[in-house]
Amino acid sequence: MKLFLDSANLDHIKEIHGWGVLAGVTTNPSLIAKEGGDFLQTIHDICELVQGPVSAEVVAQDTAGMIREGKLLAQVHEHVVVKVPLIAAGLAATRALADEGIDVNVTLCFQPTQALLAALAGAAFISPFLGRVDDLALDGMGLIREIRDVYDNDFDLETQVLAASIRHPRHVTEAALAGADVATIPYGVFVKLLNHPQTADGNRQFLADWDTVPDKDIEAQAKAFLAAKG
Ligand code: E4P
Repeated sequence: MKLFLDSANLDHIKEIHGWGVLAGVTTNPSLIAKEGGDFLQTIHDICELVQGPVSAEVVAQDTAGMIREGKLLAQVHEHVVVKVPLIAAGLAATRALADEGIDVNVTLCFQPTQALLAALAGAAFISPFLGRVDDLALDGMGLIREIRDVYDNDFDLETQVLAASIRHPRHVTEAALAGADVATIPYGVFVKLLNHPQTADGNRQFLADWDTVPDKDIEAQAKAFLAAKG
């Protein structure tokens, strides 16, 4: 499963990109508004940094407007994926944009039938909002599993399942087990994927023990060893 960062914050994106694990980024109008700054410049800068799919969302609510905005967004950078909402106008816009070779991420998916429609319209990605489904005391991960099964039962559907609205590390593990192609993860959760108190404790203990060794300089030792070895 590929990992995307769900953020428009360049500092956060730079930090996680530095780990060497980041395959893409998703934004939405709320995330862009939160950061301020110029929308298109931000999208361009993220694309340049990440060199992978970066979702930028249209705000038009009619098909013609979505197509116009989508075509303009796609020209901002070759890595832009146009994000459209899962409404009738969005399906029609997805079909039109996909027919022109523009990748579309269909967002705000809450049931498998919506995911099927998006895939049939030519979506490159479908974004089921598992956290928001859980918020309703329903089964967000069940939604991911059902979409996976629906897509796997039809070899013509190549839409990638992008698990969105992730709330905690367990969501990431379970999305991977459920067969999601991608999880898009907020910065705070991404950091939690890595940090574990026992990793920190173990690392501290190893260093404390190493401190008792008389010759601690591994690089100098290695150079001398390799030189002696010829
Ligand atoms: C990503 O594409 C979605 O916009 C995002 O994951 C929504 O997350 P939220 O439910 O935490 O706002």
